[in-house]
Amino acid sequence: MPTSMRVLIPAAELARRVTELAALIDADYRHLAATAAAGRRGKRPRPEDDPLVAVGVLKGSVFFLADLLLRLNVPVAVDFFQTSSYGIGGESRGEVRIRKDLDLAVRGRDVLLIEDIVDTGYTVRTILDLLRFRGARSVRLCALLDKPAARQVEVPIDYRGFTIENVFVVGYGLDYAERYRNLPHIAVWQPMSAPPPIPERSVSGMQFHHTDQAPAAIGPYSQAVAVEGWLYTSGQVGLDPATGAIVEGGFEAQARRALENLRQVLASAGCGFADVVKATVYVVDLADFPRLNALYGEAMGEHRPARSTVQVAALPRGALLEIDLIARLPAAGRS
Ligand code: IMP
Repeated sequence: MPTSMRVLIPAAELARRVTELAALIDADYRHLAATAAAGRRGKRPRPEDDPLVAVGVLKGSVFFLADLLLRLNVPVAVDFFQTSSYGIGGESRGEVRIRKDLDLAVRGRDVLLIEDIVDTGYTVRTILDLLRFRGARSVRLCALLDKPAARQVEVPIDYRGFTIENVFVVGYGLDYAERYRNLPHIAVWQPMSAPPPIPERSVSGMQFHHTDQAPAAIGPYSQAVAVEGWLYTSGQVGLDPATGAIVEGGFEAQARRALENLRQVLASAGCGFADVVKATVYVVDLADFPRLNALYGEAMGEHRPARSTVQVAALPRGALLEIDLIARLPAAGRS
């Protein structure tokens, strides 16, 4: 996908702020350095003599964590979690799974969680709760970037690098589909796939709808076309508009995302699921259909539009399902 990049935080600015954060952390954990200096020479170390445990979240935080720890004077041990999250974009249900757990025990120890970015907050909320549950003596959070506009759950950030707007960023550890982690700065990642501006209404009396909240139409089609009081949507798969990739988590996650994409497309034309008159569902394996049916039922509520369901050999981008809709436009949107 063609992209454009805009530098948001230059490398020098990152370095300056990381140095400041390290100084703040050093000052707060000075007592640990003092304990280490006083020493219990020749004796077995006790848990309370342990250094600060710096915990990173793979993979995004590694560049920040390394730079920060290189500037710290307090003694530190280092360990990592790796997580994956399930849910749909802004409507994420916050289900975060631990894919790699810590090797170190944290009971009775001071822990500093180091994260690249706090977005919805689900990831750090889950990890902070887990660290406390495991009996850490203290747990603090240091986040390089804070995106408060995307927040779904309250997260106290003890050390914050920068507050940024609700944009997708890459570089200095952060990726888009595993790319750009090694950029020395933070850049705003923007797909240039937004279609060229289309006249609101063509001579044929059609209106072409586009929303950034659903994957952009990359090709000679539109997300949805309105004509004579009806809206025809293109098929939606479980593609995340923020990353341009099929969401992780298999069929159910893809079904949620596809439905969310359709909700956004309908909303861009001023209607919702309650206005749908006909749906066509394509699935690669009909055995998955009952799971889709449950989520589809949730989205439609009491509404029961007509529907066709077909099993297909393959779908674009290796998707497991695709759905398109025909909806009735509200009176104001009818031509
Ligand atoms: P949260 O659970 O929504 O707060 O998400 C945190 C994780 O999502 C981060 O550790 C990143 O891996 C990823 N993430 C959130 N926003 C961005 C972004 O703008 N660029 C790259 N990754 C992001």
